[in-house]
Amino acid sequence: SGGGTTSAGTGGGGGDSITMGFAQVGAESGWRTANTKSIQDAAKNAGITLKFSDAQQKQENQIKAIRSYIQQKVDVIAFSPVVESGWDPVLNEAKNAKIPVILTDRAVDSKDTSLYKTFLGSDFVEEGKKAGQWLVEEYKDSKDPVKIVELQGTTGSAPANDRKAGFQQVISADSKFQIIASQTGDFTRAKGKEVMEAFLKAQPDIDVLYAHNDDMGLGAIEAIEGAGKVPGKDIKIITVDAVKDGMQALADGKINYIVECSPLLGPQLMDLAKKVVKGEQVPPRVVTEETTFTQEQAKQALSSRQY
Ligand code: AHR
Repeated sequence: SGGGTTSAGTGGGGGDSITMGFAQVGAESGWRTANTKSIQDAAKNAGITLKFSDAQQKQENQIKAIRSYIQQKVDVIAFSPVVESGWDPVLNEAKNAKIPVILTDRAVDSKDTSLYKTFLGSDFVEEGKKAGQWLVEEYKDSKDPVKIVELQGTTGSAPANDRKAGFQQVISADSKFQIIASQTGDFTRAKGKEVMEAFLKAQPDIDVLYAHNDDMGLGAIEAIEGAGKVPGKDIKIITVDAVKDGMQALADGKINYIVECSPLLGPQLMDLAKKVVKGEQVPPRVVTEETTFTQEQAKQALSSRQY
């Protein structure tokens, strides 16, 4: 099957050095920044030449970047697809050029799974379920309605779709849980703040905010404080990621619970890349290991948090 065209290594680097083209989503969040650093550091450590592009959360930019990697005849292409749909044409171009593709972090919804070698990243449905399970436990003794607002990630992205679905699945077991408003905040702090301001104006009593990432939750905290309410008390907050700023807010009592999503995918990605370039078999799905944090756990974990 496929295999990679091994680049001749122009000059210095020895004949069998690998060149990877990586098409990143953007720099929308603390998570993304940590993910980019992990990939760049790991490439260096693995002796892999990295061509890196930032798509600013636009699919058309990612497609352009992938096409340019195909033209440059890189040995392997890796990317984190900003949205799930619409990748078949460009993935077929890579396949026809015999350049293996690795998906990292986010999935595509292509029916043809031969278009990529493997998918390395989190189980986002599971993350959404963990967020829901905390909420169910938190309100187990209450019969009153629990009014929830949701800040979704980027529309059409795997983490937004799956975190919504997993959460919904768990809370729908009890009709007291009501999502009274749900809108995208595009995974950014600025958008999280803006949308939360609108929620607060439209909804007089919000009990819970579920934000699909820390950054939107942190933006929302500013909006809640701006409205004279106490985040973590008047409105309970659940987020996903567990980046340092999120963990700090959790330790400070402004967030109530964080579901971890690990951005440190670099080392595993480079291992997989070496294997697929050699034409070795790799598992079709590699799931990242993750945990959850309460406020107490955040206080303990904070000092050793790397990102
Ligand atoms: O795809 C992973 C998600 O993308 C992270 O949870 C979010 O912070 C990032 O923008």
